[in-house]
Amino acid sequence: MIRSVIRGSGSALPANVVTNADLAEKVDTSDEWIVERTGIRQRYIAGEGETTATLATDAARAALADAGIDASDIDLIVLATATPDNTFPATATKVQNALGCNGGIAFDVAAVCSGFLYALATADSMLRTGLANRALVIGAETFSRILDWEDRTTCVLFGDGAGAVVLEAVESSAKDAPGIIVTRLHADGSCHDLLYVDGGPSTTQTVGHVRMKGREVFRHAVVNLAEVLREAIEDAGFSSDQIDWVVPHQANKRILDATAKKLGIAEDKVIVTVDRHANTSAASVPLAFDVARKDGRIKPGDLVMFEAMGGGFTWGASLVRM
Ligand code: UT7
Repeated sequence: MIRSVIRGSGSALPANVVTNADLAEKVDTSDEWIVERTGIRQRYIAGEGETTATLATDAARAALADAGIDASDIDLIVLATATPDNTFPATATKVQNALGCNGGIAFDVAAVCSGFLYALATADSMLRTGLANRALVIGAETFSRILDWEDRTTCVLFGDGAGAVVLEAVESSAKDAPGIIVTRLHADGSCHDLLYVDGGPSTTQTVGHVRMKGREVFRHAVVNLAEVLREAIEDAGFSSDQIDWVVPHQANKRILDATAKKLGIAEDKVIVTVDRHANTSAASVPLAFDVARKDGRIKPGDLVMFEAMGGGFTWGASLVRM
């Protein structure tokens, strides 16, 4: 049996930090409201010259260095983003060129905040069917460029950044061998109007801005995430108390707490970076994962659960042995 093993991780953040107090100078909000309702204290915002592709390339380089794998050995790049550099070609091809590993497969995946889960599952399937051997799976966003900076209900919530993992196909028959064990993905297009961008090439010929009915998204997020986590844990033949770490999409600290509580997972097993990064959409899971690996919390042998939910709606969970 072939398993996709995570060999390394990396991340990249823009240079510019924007605090809640900075935002309170521009829109009618306060540090107190943002911290109490979301847990966010600051976010990174891309400046001139920083794009989804540059952040993704930096994260990919860091992941390759961490894995000890040369870019020339990468034959698949799957990049999750809702904020590509251009409508086409795929930002993944820009990253491929910047890394100097042209010739393999490279494409983008659009599943917004669940994008990293969708990209991971896509790469995992391609590695297990022999279409490629070593993959970069990247979540990268510059959401600051599609925010309505006059809408306080959305502009305080998001940030920019990128995270990446290197996956390698490894032949293995042992039950507790490292690798992706199970992934479960879902979508429900009837929820389009609860979280979307009000523009696009084929509708308005503009990029558009993020629109969200936050309270309703919140309600769906807790229900959908708890369900897909339960599904993934059961399908893999584990119980929730066997999970060492949950690496969730970082939208709101209250969603993380409510989901963990529903599943009976201890709060100290949940990786939280929303305070520093805010919601970086497809980048949030690999960013949080990289933080927890580099600070020594996530170790070889650990059972790690990735989970995310976002526009579409789309949602999913992936259980991985480190
Ligand atoms: O990543 C994709 C998934 N996205 C999510 O998971 C986001 C899910 N939703 C949320 O995280 C929360 O719903 C929000 C953080 C977006 C909002 O928190 P909430 O507790 O649901 O607040 P609310 O939308 O019910 O708004 C409460 C009040 C409103 O005032 P009134 O109508 O009660 O007078 C808002 O106008 O807070 C007001 N408000 C603000 N006040 C200060 C909304 N935004 C702000 C703001 N600063 N930035």
